[in-house]
Amino acid sequence: MRFEAFNRRAAEQRADCLVIGAFERGELGPIGSSVNSALRGRIAALLSRGDFSGRAQETLLLPEIAGLAAPRLLLVGLGARAQYNRRQWRRALQGAIGALARTRIASAALALERPAARELDDYYFGRSSAEMVGAALYRVNDLKSTRRARPPALTRVRIGPVDADALPAVRRGLAAGEALAQSSTLLRNLANLPANVCTPRYLANQARELQGSYRQRLRVRIFDEAAIRRLRMGCLLAVTRGSEEPPRFIVLEYRGTRRKRAPIVLVGKGVTFDTGGISLKDPQAMDEMKYDMCGAATVLAAMDYVARAGLALNVVGLVPACENMPDGRAVKPGDIVTSASGQTVEILNTDAEGRLILCDALNYARRYEPEAVVDFATLTGACIIALGHHQSAVMGNDEALARELVEAGNRTDDHAWPLPLTEDYADQLRSNFADVANIAGRDGGAITAAAFLGKFTTGMRWAHMDIAGTAWTSGKEKGASGRPLSLVADFLSRRAAS
Ligand code: BES
Ligand code: MN
Ligand code: ZN
Repeated sequence: MRFEAFNRRAAEQRADCLVIGAFERGELGPIGSSVNSALRGRIAALLSRGDFSGRAQETLLLPEIAGLAAPRLLLVGLGARAQYNRRQWRRALQGAIGALARTRIASAALALERPAARELDDYYFGRSSAEMVGAALYRVNDLKSTRRARPPALTRVRIGPVDADALPAVRRGLAAGEALAQSSTLLRNLANLPANVCTPRYLANQARELQGSYRQRLRVRIFDEAAIRRLRMGCLLAVTRGSEEPPRFIVLEYRGTRRKRAPIVLVGKGVTFDTGGISLKDPQAMDEMKYDMCGAATVLAAMDYVARAGLALNVVGLVPACENMPDGRAVKPGDIVTSASGQTVEILNTDAEGRLILCDALNYARRYEPEAVVDFATLTGACIIALGHHQSAVMGNDEALARELVEAGNRTDDHAWPLPLTEDYADQLRSNFADVANIAGRDGGAITAAAFLGKFTTGMRWAHMDIAGTAWTSGKEKGASGRPLSLVADFLSRRAAS
């Protein structure tokens, strides 16, 4: 995909298709009006006849239209003019790309009305445009033996019109958005793969491939089961016990600056399949537990992004990867194991495995004396009860860091919401037999899971993102969403600039 910004008039754009927007009730914005004049009022006439309502996401393709440099015009509904905002703009853009992707159009000039600058500045206009085009053209990596869908033909997209003085910011945004779209494809492909393909070893090989792509700046180390034992990661070993698939602990170190700046450490839950173990899950929708490695995929994709974008900071990615299976040798409720931190853990529920593999990885983060640690995990069903599917949850021990993540989510429309992680929750994890229990009852489950992780992050600036509700969609359109990569990429870009 090639992205460019243009600053000449929309009607003069040479492309297979020009895309403009129209509001409800036949209203046109400045771009629509200028194209309408170039067409000597034909759009206004069409709207007044009622041929196009302007409702959000409605589209109408007008082929062989004379008077424009482009041979086709795609009209996209923008909704009510008085309410036009970034959300409406996003919907219109998605509708437009969806319509283009159903044709064989290869190049398009997108000239949708822009929401107010305070809603969407030049950089994010570019970034979001490229990101959304990439996301809308993504096709699920299915393993169907027949009927392979033809990939969309669209390969060149220009956006505008942009004032000359805004071009540099828009172009920087487009470059960031394009890099993000590529990393997002990696994330979604990994997440969508079935668990018999995407095993811990597969994730490790992916990490090695990243090292191959960015040899100068990315170093990858893989720990196998024996090496994990030497690291004394008793909690990770407990989870993997029931599986025939060997676990891996994956370390990726990106050096983007020679400055001796402490790294940001990203940790991702890599349970490539979560049956629940001996605390076996219900069968319904269990297939979706192949997505229990979305945190790991987020971290791999984030490392791909920082290397691709060449961000000037140091970032470490840590991925504990294993399966959670029931077996004669599997860990049992009540078993007590020793974590890498030395704390003993009573495993009361083997289905609360994510926090177990994460606590050993979080402990490993200590050796980097990091600037900040952020973990990503499809950690709890309770998070979905609390926030549904629109917002990821953010918790941690550092208000400023949590706020940074929330704000990155707001800028990128990859939203996250804070949940309170006060000391009371940690008290609920008391065990009669070990330093800590791995569960604390149903109520407030997203927070008590974070409180468990909090026992392993003392003295580090740490945030935890529960992405159980946002990382994938169920139902007919089942598939990975790519979230929260956009948020993470923005967070890291800001850190690089500071
Ligand atoms: N991977 C699941 C959480 C999950 C479930 C995410 C459904 C998305 C959809 C996690 O390992 C888990 O099983 N958590 C348990 C914790 C409980 C045993 C305290 C849960 O949420 O039920
Ligand atoms: Mn589980
Ligand atoms: Zn899980």
